[in-house]
Amino acid sequence: MDRYIIRGGNPLVGEVTIGGAKNAALGILAAAIMTSDPVRIENVPAVTDTEILLKAVEGIGVKITRPEKHTVIMDSSKLNSTFIDDEYMKKIRASYYLVGALLGRDKRAEVPLPGGCNIGVRGIDQHLKGFKALGAKVKIVHGCISAEAKELRGAHIFFDKVSVGATINVMMAAALASGRTIIENAAKEPHVVDLANFLNSMGANIRGAGTDVIRIRGVERLHGTDYAIIPDQIEAGTYMAAVAACHGDLIIRNVIPKHLECITAKLSEIGCQITEFDDAVQVTSYEPLTSTQVRTLPYPGFPTDMQPQITVALGLAQGISIVTEGIFDNRFKYVDELVRMGASIKVENNMALITGVSKYTGTGIVAPDLRAGAALVIAGLAAEGETIVEDTSFVERGYEEFDEKLRAVGADITKAAEGWEFEKSRLRIAE
Ligand code: EPZ
Repeated sequence: MDRYIIRGGNPLVGEVTIGGAKNAALGILAAAIMTSDPVRIENVPAVTDTEILLKAVEGIGVKITRPEKHTVIMDSSKLNSTFIDDEYMKKIRASYYLVGALLGRDKRAEVPLPGGCNIGVRGIDQHLKGFKALGAKVKIVHGCISAEAKELRGAHIFFDKVSVGATINVMMAAALASGRTIIENAAKEPHVVDLANFLNSMGANIRGAGTDVIRIRGVERLHGTDYAIIPDQIEAGTYMAAVAACHGDLIIRNVIPKHLECITAKLSEIGCQITEFDDAVQVTSYEPLTSTQVRTLPYPGFPTDMQPQITVALGLAQGISIVTEGIFDNRFKYVDELVRMGASIKVENNMALITGVSKYTGTGIVAPDLRAGAALVIAGLAAEGETIVEDTSFVERGYEEFDEKLRAVGADITKAAEGWEFEKSRLRIAE
């Protein structure tokens, strides 16, 4: 297991460039198999999650070529199966997007049920509700979702709760259903809009993405396209929160400021200066942070994927802050690790009561999931002394070159293979 070795205390100064949105890429790479024409997709982030999804589609006969690091050309003309192997679903939940894609394309799909998750119960009942409404027979057999339909027919679907995944999955299947589909209570995240734009660039007829009512007129077939994925709002927000916690002056390039509005508003509230440009934001923070309240909500509310990062910053703010997790039922597991670094946080159900402290102190910590891992790295960068964060694999699921990008703006962070002993580094401090 690799780990991050961090010596905290350096402000973050300079420029960082944001990659393609992981959560848009996962839907788009799945949707790309819905045509037998070649599809070229640019700005694909080189992170573990997208690599695993590409392996999953290669496993059913999709030919992948990579003309350059962030560009993928997919040829699904020789798709040879509608069964996705368990090894991929075990690694990323988003493999279930292949149900919507295969159901749309071949009217059948068999994908293993997603496993458990470190941030809470993550149901798929709304996905199945949507597929059934479109006329698919859906059953759970031998731990797999098995869906098939003689024909998919448009339907009026009202989601019982806002779900990014269900919105994306059902939108894909409905794109090739006959007739009109209306999805009510749809998710409005930027990556939902990006997928709708991608499908429309393939000849789909989808209107209203980004609002809570999406209207889809099914088409006979989808054709190839050349598409570029939007920048990753959560990667950008993570670097913004890092400046708040570590102080400094960072220009974050290749962003869509509109997608960051809620994060910008919240960081401004606690004392950061934020300047917006066409495709960049500048975050400056040299004053002590002040406390605030945060509740995570579906977009355009404060993103749940930014909850650990803002909690780390508020742990160093003057006064008492409250962070309420409005989406997942167990997304504060990382707080125990943060308390070991000196944070004063009490978690009751889905609420964290934070009493700001003057500093964190470094120690060895374990990242329980992707976004918490990035947040704990930020805590190490702000802490006094040395922090070891294990293991890097969670963070690398969603952040490309995380340590390299941080090092380039002044952070003292390196990635080390297993075997690095905390004591060794402590000895070095003693020297
Ligand atoms: C997507 O997960 C993201 N993942 C998550 O990002 C993100 O946290 C989440 O949306 C919320 O924004 C991807 O896009 C790959 P949901 P998803 O369906 O689609 C419940 C990251 O760090 N629910 O919007 O699984 C569910 O349990 C990841 O990049 C049902 O009950 O999220 C949750 O409490 C973490 N039944 C809530 O809804 C369903 O059928 C929101 O889930 C579907 C969801």
